[in-house]
Amino acid sequence: MLGKRMEDALNGQVVAELYSAYLYLSMVAYFESANCPGAAGWMRAQVQEEFVHAMKLFDFVNEQGGRVILTVIDAPPSEWESPLAAFEAAYKHEQKVTGLIGELVEIAKQENDGVTVDFLQWFVNEQVEEEESTSEVVEKLKGGELSDVDKQLGQRALK
Ligand code: FEO
Repeated sequence: MLGKRMEDALNGQVVAELYSAYLYLSMVAYFESANCPGAAGWMRAQVQEEFVHAMKLFDFVNEQGGRVILTVIDAPPSEWESPLAAFEAAYKHEQKVTGLIGELVEIAKQENDGVTVDFLQWFVNEQVEEEESTSEVVEKLKGGELSDVDKQLGQRALK
């Protein structure tokens, strides 16, 4: 059974994950308009991942006897200076999400809620990958030709 403070914090993270999906969907639109189909495909896959993250939290709150309450999702930016700037923003966003997950773990510990601490471990590990995958693209874009990198990014959508 979730305590009220934990329930509220997890509900906040459901919305944060949906915002991530929304942000990356906005990047899909940007990459498509910037003629980067590979990057658009990469971000499309990322949108799906973020929705899965949101639903994992959603289902956990329900399973633990809580009630999911959805609130407003902020509008994401719609323009970036360049594909590199967009991926830098994605990397920065993932670092922020890592911080949010860390705060949830802290609350779960303060509430002596071991079940939620265990549940959140998946997200702790996932954030290592999320930061890694976005920073890897940043490095590729810094070091390579945009059209080559875009082709490589397009591979992700095929998986
Ligand atoms: Fe849901 Fe990109 O972390």
